[in-house]
Amino acid sequence: MSDFVLKGDICYSVSPTQLAENKDSFVVCKGGRSCGVFQSLPKEFQDLPLHDYGNRLIFPGMIDLHIHAPQYAFRGLGMDMELLDWLESRAFPEEIKYRDLNYARSAYTVFVQNLKKSATTRACIFATLHRRATEILMDLMESSGLISYVGKVNMDRNSPDELCEMSAEQSEQETRTWLREIDGTYQRTMPILTPRFIPSCSDDLLNRLKTVQKEYQLPIQSHLSENPSEQKWVESLCPNAKFYGDAYDRYDLFGRSGKTIMAHCVYSTEDEVERMAENGVFVAHCPTSNLNLSSGITPIRKYCEKGLKIGLGSDVAGGHTESIFNTIVDAIQVSKLYWRLIDPTCKPMTFDEVFYLATKGGGEFFGKVGSFEEGYSFDAVILNDAQSPDLLQNSLHDRLERAVYQLMDRTSIEAKYAAGEKIF
Ligand code: GUN
Ligand code: FE
Repeated sequence: MSDFVLKGDICYSVSPTQLAENKDSFVVCKGGRSCGVFQSLPKEFQDLPLHDYGNRLIFPGMIDLHIHAPQYAFRGLGMDMELLDWLESRAFPEEIKYRDLNYARSAYTVFVQNLKKSATTRACIFATLHRRATEILMDLMESSGLISYVGKVNMDRNSPDELCEMSAEQSEQETRTWLREIDGTYQRTMPILTPRFIPSCSDDLLNRLKTVQKEYQLPIQSHLSENPSEQKWVESLCPNAKFYGDAYDRYDLFGRSGKTIMAHCVYSTEDEVERMAENGVFVAHCPTSNLNLSSGITPIRKYCEKGLKIGLGSDVAGGHTESIFNTIVDAIQVSKLYWRLIDPTCKPMTFDEVFYLATKGGGEFFGKVGSFEEGYSFDAVILNDAQSPDLLQNSLHDRLERAVYQLMDRTSIEAKYAAGEKIF
């Protein structure tokens, strides 16, 4: 791993309300970590190779805390449906195809190529229940240079026959085989335990997954309180659970002893939010998906005030795009609707706050990630916003905001680094 210095117009979050702006400055990378940002380069770093990116914007890589790789091929389709119908008519039929490894390889190749080009440097990814196809996805992610957690999905009930493991025992065994097969294979691609959601996982399966989680010390990802029909279904499946999240927590799969991401959390009750705060559960806020599948608006301002850990998720293909710039825009916009239409005490989210969620907020799941402060892993995106003339002589802050709203991540990223390694 090489040590180097980048020069350019550097922006990063220090806190939700503090976005640091450093024009014509230097950020130093040593051993894959940032040594900080400087107006003039300290003597001790002057011998390092310097890449001068001129007036390009340099900011930390985006973190996607929730994305479904096998849904990428049908992104933008079925977007007039609600969650449960969409799962049955779009998501499940597509995921069934991943038993065919040729299909899996070609579809996952496109997914990884496009994720590589995006502003995302790290992601938490759902695969399907197919072990071999999941390994192909992990191979491709590893080669991309991106850093990720990838989960072989577990599901043993309420799914089409072709997308349902034969028993809880078989699901556990496949998961164990997967973990054995990938053990020691990757540097930047890590396994994550992935019970799809409560309706697809029997009590027996959750119980077994806990033993696997404990043995391998795995993190966990799943879905929570996304949609009213889903929530009612969970109530009827788990009459003894105090709330949806309690159905995971009864098996200790809810953050207490293994870092955990729960996607959506649109309808979390006060008890559920309190438990998430207590257990340190990460919320993956997925506003694009929540709009597309008519799920609703997550009261993210309230969750911030309660001190929950929060990052953003594209939730492709509930979300129609992998662009976290798009997710940022949607997060700000839906927070305004929540304030205007639902709760006037719940102020809209600012750009700075949501940029923080997209970088340092979600980055915390990976450790010291999502900022250029000293000691943070060196994940960086270099973006050329000159395509759109800056007639207003904007501040760096305003150039960054404009680049996000104009979705310049699709056209204007010139270079990207993850943990100090150049991705392109
Ligand atoms: N809940 C269970 N599975 C899924 C999925 O694939 N996407 C979304 N958005 N919600 C889910
Ligand atoms: Fe999802």
